[in-house]
Amino acid sequence: MSKKTFYITTPIYYPSGNPHIGHSFCSVAADVMARYKRLSGFDVMFLTGTDEHGQKIETNAQKEGLSPKEYVDKIVSEFRKLWDLMNISNDKYIRTTDEPHKLAVQKIFRALYDKGEIYKGTYSGLYCKPCEAFWTESQLKDGKCPDCDREVEYTEEEAYFFKLSKYADKLLDLYETRADFIRPESRKNEMISFIKSGLNDLCVSRTSFSWGVPVDFDKKHVVYVWLDALTNYITALGYGSDNDSDYQKYWPADVHFVGKEIMRFHTIIWPAVLMALDLPLPKCVYGHGWLLFGDGTKMSKSKGNVVDPKVLCDRYGIDAIRYFMLREFPFGKDSNFTNEALINRINSDLANDLGNLVSRTTAMVLKYFDGKLPHDIEQSEADDELISTASLLRGKYEEQMENFQFSSALAEVWKLISRANKYIDETMPWALAKDPEKSARLSAVLYNLCEVLRIVSILIIPFMPETAPKIQKQIGATGEITTWESAKSWGLLPKEIAISKGEALFPRIDMKKELEELNLTM
Ligand code: ME8
Repeated sequence: MSKKTFYITTPIYYPSGNPHIGHSFCSVAADVMARYKRLSGFDVMFLTGTDEHGQKIETNAQKEGLSPKEYVDKIVSEFRKLWDLMNISNDKYIRTTDEPHKLAVQKIFRALYDKGEIYKGTYSGLYCKPCEAFWTESQLKDGKCPDCDREVEYTEEEAYFFKLSKYADKLLDLYETRADFIRPESRKNEMISFIKSGLNDLCVSRTSFSWGVPVDFDKKHVVYVWLDALTNYITALGYGSDNDSDYQKYWPADVHFVGKEIMRFHTIIWPAVLMALDLPLPKCVYGHGWLLFGDGTKMSKSKGNVVDPKVLCDRYGIDAIRYFMLREFPFGKDSNFTNEALINRINSDLANDLGNLVSRTTAMVLKYFDGKLPHDIEQSEADDELISTASLLRGKYEEQMENFQFSSALAEVWKLISRANKYIDETMPWALAKDPEKSARLSAVLYNLCEVLRIVSILIIPFMPETAPKIQKQIGATGEITTWESAKSWGLLPKEIAISKGEALFPRIDMKKELEELNLTM
């Protein structure tokens, strides 16, 4: 039987500046989801990429004396290097400057025009250059662009329009009949009121600059950057090309992960375009929150207040940063980024809770049994709670993952880790070790701890792909007993396991010293 498919995407990022931790947040979340689905048996397609056209890019390139393509090539290589460094396991990387994508966009534009879904008209109105968006007077906030808070200017140009307005009712109906289309639920009302306040037809071509996909039947126009960008989710699968087998296999997407400010493009324009093309709609668009600074402002390239994820990965390790982002920032909500929170998480969750559990457990097996547990073990009622917590964990974890609640999934794992650390204090292996009569009991306690580590090591694979195998190596777990399936069964580790000593997984950090150094680096 062929495997069930799972198609997940990140937004395609603007290469108008180097990637920052806000971009990494979405990419790591999508990566965790992709890895989780692969482990649980799905045939996954995970797509990310870059959105390389538009006036902003053209202007930035001019400022640096480069052609737009030279400019984006340079930044795109930074994005790709960062994703490699952070172990982002995307199956494809789309660039909107890729030739096949451009050809497919032209085909889509023409198909919409031929169907009467796109028509030629004149645009006059208020235009925000950086956002490449037209606004009506009533949409402005204090006379400025409601998205970026910058000045808008009056513009008039001949342009093509997509008949977005005729989809208002269909979209409202979509939200009502498909409860999971917009998530989290809290983002739905905003989209409903936006539609109810009146949908205008959408201007989908520009003549004021040339860095874009030309409309092939009217060359002075380039395709509006958002129409170009949104279609990446299908062109990357070969839609509109000679080989659309991936499109046939993976579309519709199971989920598009996007930041909350671009929900409107993904839950209004994108489904309307797909409806106009008579194509199936994605199953879900999930709008995640922003990483903010302590003062509540969004971290963004244009504000210049960004944190460089590479600096953090180099200092603390990739898995620590991946863990921190998904544990600290609940996916659907905005949260503050602080260096203190980062160091606290590393010290308390990783060094203290997980790191100590691994090092105490392995050190005790080495000290008391020379690294090899005796076959004879004596279980006790005192073990029941630990065992039941561990056995139920995978189910609870999956429930959270299916809802994209990464922080809660990790919290479940850490409940078991804390329970196991408490179990060490309760059972006092060091006291058992003093009495040769209690050797079988000591062996059981240590076996149980190793079994907890086995289950934990599997469930953290999606989040910490480098740390998980290190733990498995230390407890001698390989093959069948490290599969996803095996994480729901207790007692699979062979009784005669051989433990080996490994390096400390997460060294503790001196908060004060580190903060001083970080403030100098950032
Ligand atoms: O919007 N916290 O690109 P983009 C969390 N090209 N997420 C953040 C963030 C922060 N501080 N800053 C940015 C675009 N992001 C379009 C997308 S998709 C067809 C086209 C997220 O580079 C942001 O929310 O401006 C968005 O989802 C993503 O980075 C890309 O932003």
